[in-house]
Amino acid sequence: MDGQIPKSMFIFILLAVSGFLLLILIMFMEELNDQLMFTFHQIQRSIDSAFKPPEILWPLGANHTYCAHFGKKPTAEEAKEERDLLSSIAWPGPLVQGLPVELSSDPAKSYFVILGSSKKHKGGQLLVNVHMQNFLGLPKDHGGDFLIARLHSPRLGAGVAGKVHDHQDGTYTVMFPLLWTGVAWVEITMVHPSEAVMVLKRLQEEQPDRVFFKSVFSSGTISETTMCNLCLPLNEKPLCNYTDPETGEPWYCYKPQHLGCDTRINHSKGGYKKNLITEYEAQFFQSGVNLKIPIPAAAMDKVTILAEKKGQTKVKNDYISAGYYFHDTWRPLNGSVTRQFKTSSAIAHCLRGKNVYMFGDSTARQWFEYLSDVLYLTHLIPYSPKKTGPYLAVDRWDNILVSYRCHGPPIRFTSVLSSELGYVANELDKIQGGPRTVVLVSVWSHFSTFPIEVYIRRLRHIRRAVLQLLAQEPDTVVVIRTANLQKIGPESSLFNSDWFSLQRDAVLRAMFKGIHVQLIDAWEMTLAHHLPHDIHPPLLIIENMIDLILSHICPVREI
Ligand SMILES: *[C@@H]1O[C@H](CO)[C@@H](O)[C@H](O)[C@H]1NC(C)=O
Ligand SMILES: *[C@@H]1O[C@H](CO)[C@@H](O)[C@H](O)[C@H]1NC(C)=O
Ligand SMILES: *[C@@H]1O[C@H](CO)[C@@H](O)[C@H](O)[C@H]1NC(C)=O
Ligand SMILES: *[C@@H]1O[C@H](CO)[C@@H](O)[C@H](O)[C@H]1NC(C)=O
Repeated sequence: MDGQIPKSMFIFILLAVSGFLLLILIMFMEELNDQLMFTFHQIQRSIDSAFKPPEILWPLGANHTYCAHFGKKPTAEEAKEERDLLSSIAWPGPLVQGLPVELSSDPAKSYFVILGSSKKHKGGQLLVNVHMQNFLGLPKDHGGDFLIARLHSPRLGAGVAGKVHDHQDGTYTVMFPLLWTGVAWVEITMVHPSEAVMVLKRLQEEQPDRVFFKSVFSSGTISETTMCNLCLPLNEKPLCNYTDPETGEPWYCYKPQHLGCDTRINHSKGGYKKNLITEYEAQFFQSGVNLKIPIPAAAMDKVTILAEKKGQTKVKNDYISAGYYFHDTWRPLNGSVTRQFKTSSAIAHCLRGKNVYMFGDSTARQWFEYLSDVLYLTHLIPYSPKKTGPYLAVDRWDNILVSYRCHGPPIRFTSVLSSELGYVANELDKIQGGPRTVVLVSVWSHFSTFPIEVYIRRLRHIRRAVLQLLAQEPDTVVVIRTANLQKIGPESSLFNSDWFSLQRDAVLRAMFKGIHVQLIDAWEMTLAHHLPHDIHPPLLIIENMIDLILSHICPVREI
């Protein structure tokens, strides 16, 4: 009133400035390093509670049907495939509502039992029964818990993923192929109790916008930032429609107040919504209690695998697992031989004269970074934003060209120029293909917060482009990477749970079945390995993936 700025205003400004500086810091963080993200989130939250967050960041309740079918209507054939995919990944439940946490699955009180003798023979199978119990130590009577399993021999660097079958009565059977001799340990882990999976299911349907995005618009001296997403409420404010004319993939931003829709400069992850679940629901996501916790053995937790019996009928095991580690080297079970490309010159020799295109999220970028390092590639776009790309690098001596480009929205990268926001399908359409062309695709992680239909639609477009490329040039090598397991905590589970990845993984496998592409089974390659789960798998696993890809490009010559 009297022209003086009140003291509280100074504090407010101070807070706002420090909040802004923090935000800048966060933008430079690795886009998928969620652990760090959440730590910063906590700090950010304490700032947020000091004053109201800017209005732009909060979308209002988009609804599931609205979001899933935003974009082109699927054809009858596509709709049928979608229905089949949805029913193939249907998860049982909710079986009970409002169950007290004491009655939910407790991994520490549950147990597994190895069936049969403790001595087995290589070439056979191992069956393990899992009995889930609640915190009171009483058996569960319904299924739906998310379990993962592996059999491993640490001294041999050997490990294989098991197949889990849910009997829907609180018991599960896990099947492992027996692929090496020696002592092998069984490891069963409960990732989530069924009660937590129900919460994830609810979030998937009710909160598809729990990760939000923003764009900077700029013209002359004016700059504005608005919120963007696959689905924004239609009746709130005017929208800018960035629906892709080629694929029909939807994308929208709120229209800036003063600028036109054509002044969009860049795209970035806005952040993660908070307060997504109730206190009751949070009980099912407790670190050290019921989130990625091993289930103990009732008695014996290991078996001795003896040499194959004479005259033993060989069981084909490739329906259980895609491959296994031995001496830390991945061996596919489909009969194909993997070579090891231990030296730069071996890799360069295999890729000589080739044009390697990589498309997707940061798990595809890991391959680019690996090849760039081992081949000492020369980068041709040196000023490309770090971690975002696009990248283009060459080995002039061996005439190798390697490129990386991130996939289109909903990419959660820190800042992508609008002009570089391309869809993988459209990029594939520009490629000539042929025996000198290698295409690597990894698209999964950034779809975890959206209804599965959104992912199905994206894969449909990519598959259409892959089929067209292979029809033109059947000798083109196309490699598709599946989802992998990652480190998850109570908060990150709500955005990046392995359960979301599992569902997307199943859809991807089904949609590329029977197509002449090489699948890199990142799921099993991370599950079977002893190294900790990480959204960006450790180097040893990346090396194994590269060996697989190169073995596919440059197979062992038949003698
Ligand atoms: C969700 O959106 C669809 C399509 O716009 C609409 O028909 C339906 O009534 C909405 N449902 C709710 C619960 O708002
Ligand atoms: C956005 O544009 C696409 C393609 O031009 C169109 O099909 C869609 O209906 C538009 N969305 C809205 C909300 O107007
Ligand atoms: C987006 O573009 C603006 C204007 O060029 C720039 O200041 C900003 O750092 C860019 N990135 C993000 C995340 O806003
Ligand atoms: C077996 O799997 C590997 C790894 O996925 C692949 O490179 C190879 O082409 C497959 N071989 C056959 C015969 O299917």
